Amino acid sequence: MCKYLALAHDKSLSYSNNLNSPAEYKGVNLMEIKWAKRIEELPPYLFAEIDRKKNEIIEKGVDVIDLGVGDPDIPTPDHIIEALKKASEDPANHTYPSYIGMISFRESAANWYKSRFGVELDPQSEIVTLIGSKEGIAHVPLAFVNPGDIALVPDPGYPVYPVSVSFAGGVAHKMPLLKENKFLPDLDSIPQNILDKTSLMFLNYPNNPTTALADRGFFKDVIELAKSNNFVVCHDAAYTEIAFDGCTPLSFLEVEGAMDVGIEFHSLSKTFSMTGWRIGFAAGNSKAVAGLGKIKTNIDSGAFQAVQIAGIEALNNYSVGLEDRKEVYKERIDLFCKSLDEAGLKYSKPEATFYIWFEVPEGMNSSEFASRLLEEAGIVVTPGNGFGEYGEGYARVSVTFSTERIKQAADRIKEFKL
Ligand SMILES: Cc1ncc(COP(=O)(O)O)c(C=O)c1O
Repeated sequence: MCKYLALAHDKSLSYSNNLNSPAEYKGVNLMEIKWAKRIEELPPYLFAEIDRKKNEIIEKGVDVIDLGVGDPDIPTPDHIIEALKKASEDPANHTYPSYIGMISFRESAANWYKSRFGVELDPQSEIVTLIGSKEGIAHVPLAFVNPGDIALVPDPGYPVYPVSVSFAGGVAHKMPLLKENKFLPDLDSIPQNILDKTSLMFLNYPNNPTTALADRGFFKDVIELAKSNNFVVCHDAAYTEIAFDGCTPLSFLEVEGAMDVGIEFHSLSKTFSMTGWRIGFAAGNSKAVAGLGKIKTNIDSGAFQAVQIAGIEALNNYSVGLEDRKEVYKERIDLFCKSLDEAGLKYSKPEATFYIWFEVPEGMNSSEFASRLLEEAGIVVTPGNGFGEYGEGYARVSVTFSTERIKQAADRIKEFKL
């Protein structure tokens, strides 16, 4: 018998809804709910086992330090909260918003792009507001990937890329991100018969989880490959603003030719500590932006205007408090890296993102290491294989937890017997 049985036995509900199945009139509706293949075939929730173990250990009374999720602990700046408060009181902001976003929000995004990256964008046709960048990333393959098409996805990578491709009926082809290639995909190794069927490529720099950066030369090669094989490049730029020591990550769109082939996804989540607000935007080639806009028009009804107005406040005052927030992350990164040094664990010091991607000790795989660290030191890290098969041998920590907790975790790592 199937696990998924729904038993409807509320007679009043059946009658009042005027349902007409004979079984419902008898007050009993025993039916089997079947999932569509696209979710039936989803890989198992990779962090489920860690979550289960974490709860088990907490129940034993262990003070577990969870360094898994990348969700800033630093609150959203006050001026942004004030803008939301004011905007939420205005009834004009209570109606359905525009599907593709308020023009004033898109103008602020265009101004920010110009001042941060030197890229001129037409806010009317080259920018669309998103309900968080994840929303845009999850929907974009629906605009460009036909069933059976291939989409190139980084591995390890943000798990939404391959899933969104498969939801669109496409096939994700992994591009390994290896240490020896500075965690950039080896474009020359992608077979021509794969490129022939490719309609989209996902990229993400600064990269989650590896923290790697892309340089102009790499982006140029990507543009050339996209042009000669006719695919859309979707660059996820969620972490361009979380960078340290004078590092200023590139926008894909500032590289010559990018506007012909690409669309870039920006998030206000990490830059302004606004993960819960659900606001971001996509910018780039007007036909690509229009394609994503068309999908969104048929799926969602836009981002709450008061949140967009708060987003305008954030973008127009981009630098307020940003250096201070980055300094906090940097201090925590330095602190944690020191403990990795003392524990003899290898890593490259992150120049951007609030993650540290480090190698697990020899003789252990990522899951074994994560389990042992949890069981013996009470620390949750994300095993690298959770981001794809090429993440095996690594683990990721996020420094989006209080400095006090990071210090405690660092002390425990030092004492942890590998
Ligand atoms: C690489 C990457 N892209 C996109 C997102 C989504 O960010 P949001 O939907 O909050 O804009 C995340 C969130 O963790 C991420 O790590």
